[in-house]
Amino acid sequence: MKNQKRYLITSALPYSNGPIHIGHLAGVYVPADIYTRYLRLRKQDAIHICGSDEHGVPITLKAKKEGITPQQVVDRYHKINKKAFSDFGISFDIYSRTSSEAHHKTASEFFKNLYDKGEFIEKTSKQLYDKQADQYLADRYVTGTCPHCGSDSAYGDQCEKCGTSLSALDLINPISAITGNVPVTKATKHWYLPLDKHQPFLEEWILEQHKEWREGVKGQCRSWFKAGLQPRAVSRDLNWGVPLPIKDAEGKVLYVWFDAPIGYITATKELTPDWEKYWKSEDTKMVHFIGKDNIVFHCIIFPAMLKAHGDYILPNNVPANKFLNLENDKISTSRNWAVWLHEYLQEFPGQQDVLRYVLTANAPEAKDNNFTWKDFQTRNNNELVGDLGNFINRILVLTNKYYKGVVPEITELNESDKQVIAKINNLKQDIEKSIENYRFREAMVSVINLSRVGNKYLAETEPWLLIKTNPEQVKTIMNICLQITTNLSTLLDPFLPFTAKKLRTMLNIEMVEWDSLNAKNIIKVGHKINKPSLLFSKIDDKTVEKQREKLANSKKELEKETRKITPQKNIVDFEDFQKLDLRIGTVVSAEKVAKTKKLLKLQVNTGLDTRTVVAGIAESYKPEDIINKQVVILVNLSPRKIRKIESQGMLLMAEDFDGKLSALLPFEEVADGSSIK
Ligand code: 2FM
Ligand code: ZN
Repeated sequence: MKNQKRYLITSALPYSNGPIHIGHLAGVYVPADIYTRYLRLRKQDAIHICGSDEHGVPITLKAKKEGITPQQVVDRYHKINKKAFSDFGISFDIYSRTSSEAHHKTASEFFKNLYDKGEFIEKTSKQLYDKQADQYLADRYVTGTCPHCGSDSAYGDQCEKCGTSLSALDLINPISAITGNVPVTKATKHWYLPLDKHQPFLEEWILEQHKEWREGVKGQCRSWFKAGLQPRAVSRDLNWGVPLPIKDAEGKVLYVWFDAPIGYITATKELTPDWEKYWKSEDTKMVHFIGKDNIVFHCIIFPAMLKAHGDYILPNNVPANKFLNLENDKISTSRNWAVWLHEYLQEFPGQQDVLRYVLTANAPEAKDNNFTWKDFQTRNNNELVGDLGNFINRILVLTNKYYKGVVPEITELNESDKQVIAKINNLKQDIEKSIENYRFREAMVSVINLSRVGNKYLAETEPWLLIKTNPEQVKTIMNICLQITTNLSTLLDPFLPFTAKKLRTMLNIEMVEWDSLNAKNIIKVGHKINKPSLLFSKIDDKTVEKQREKLANSKKELEKETRKITPQKNIVDFEDFQKLDLRIGTVVSAEKVAKTKKLLKLQVNTGLDTRTVVAGIAESYKPEDIINKQVVILVNLSPRKIRKIESQGMLLMAEDFDGKLSALLPFEEVADGSSIK
């Protein structure tokens, strides 16, 4: 590990307008927690900063929708999210919030510092404006068509379909999210950070000095540079946010993305009076954990702000993750396509580490990844129960059985024992290297591999047989396996902290410091361990099926809610309607049309005659369902050949939103041939 004086680790401040889901955990908080826990175990001065991002238009929109104040919205979710993080063992040193007075002060001072130095451009320009709401429409207050991909649900700050960052004026056919009106344009004054001025510095800093950053992160920055950075407005005409601390700026607040990252500074100030050493000393290594949608803000805009200020350090790395999908579909709060942390805990109480494990093993580090309940089950049953849990349980059970729980001594080491000992040390080094390079899934694999080394050693030496013929050698094997287990009780801690703690209780030990780990004698000969219990248990098919059904149901519910009734057709004259000759008839025979899925060939008694009608209803009705039933038939439709059969009319059906057809029946039986008027 490189000599580093201290670490400042930040995790993206989640918006305080909804609960946290697995995508958040996988993308940002679990990797950041692994990294910080690791550094703490290595006795580094490392602090992990986070909190709620409580400004921005989605919060005011939600408040409006629910008829409450924005403050009430953020109060609710701040509490829920703080608890969810703590329930999952995300060990922030502070979980602050940006609606606090302290933050308003820090953010105002930061803005004022740049303002006084002339770091902003002041510009009056036309912006979208909703006359009825008497409000300028920035960011999420306006939706429209994306000029890049054509999606018709792009927002005024970003298109979620193609990820392009937008300005409200870029939108084609903009619509106000407040009233649904088409906005007009109206002039207003704003302050802009001239990113173009900072481009040469940023390019050199990222592309030359930080070649080690993730390809995806550098790639996004490169495309911003290629397009040429533009001045970026840092103020908004809104009444929710940090008011601009300057004259003639009534009704204006800081852009949420200007104040949010300053939230990291506020939180550090709240954590310690010694905050400046973390922010203003080149001895500090600052690392921002974020998702890929936050790259531009953490690699370009916030560094430009910090640079313009001049007193602050810049991040050493920004290991942004890609996105996690759920069952092959994009996680979405608005579509309720997510696994919410609080719901997971209700369904899998005490199993936080299983989720932490699966999200790490599947972390979207280099590409978008997918969470499926099937994979969750397989990884739990094979890797946690089958590899890790099985090894630990066998060792603890055998130690109790053979030695009444007392750690036996090493008698004599043969070649294969020595090789196992060497592997313990090698894997520990692999884990260190992987974590220090932000490769957490690779690190997790090495931890599990240590238990696999143990399982292989047991399978090869078979102590349960050897105990009868060579009990002295069994002592050595068991001692080595207990050393592996003790190593695991620390090595697992950054990843699965709840499990690591349980394991230490079973081993009856305190946490062994990372740097004191050793393959020999870290759990002392003669030490007595406790009785074991199972660390993990199998997840059955029924449990997984239930989760999948739950997801499918939430999708169905939502589809029902958002079903679009087809718009009314053009008005027709009564005379036109009268041209249709609609009658009641009875189906006298029905058969499937060969080699088709949808067609039935019917004979219908129309009162006038019995005629052939080919109807596309086979997916809704079997022939026997419809024979002898009365139907409504259009008899004067011009005959048409369908599959070489002449169809002489058409049955009238209602079609529901899932495409299911339903025949229309008269209330009471009426004579065939009766007209419909
Ligand atoms: O994308 C988001 O959820 C933002 N609230 C992240 C903000 S990170 C930081 F800048 F505060
Ligand atoms: Zn788009």
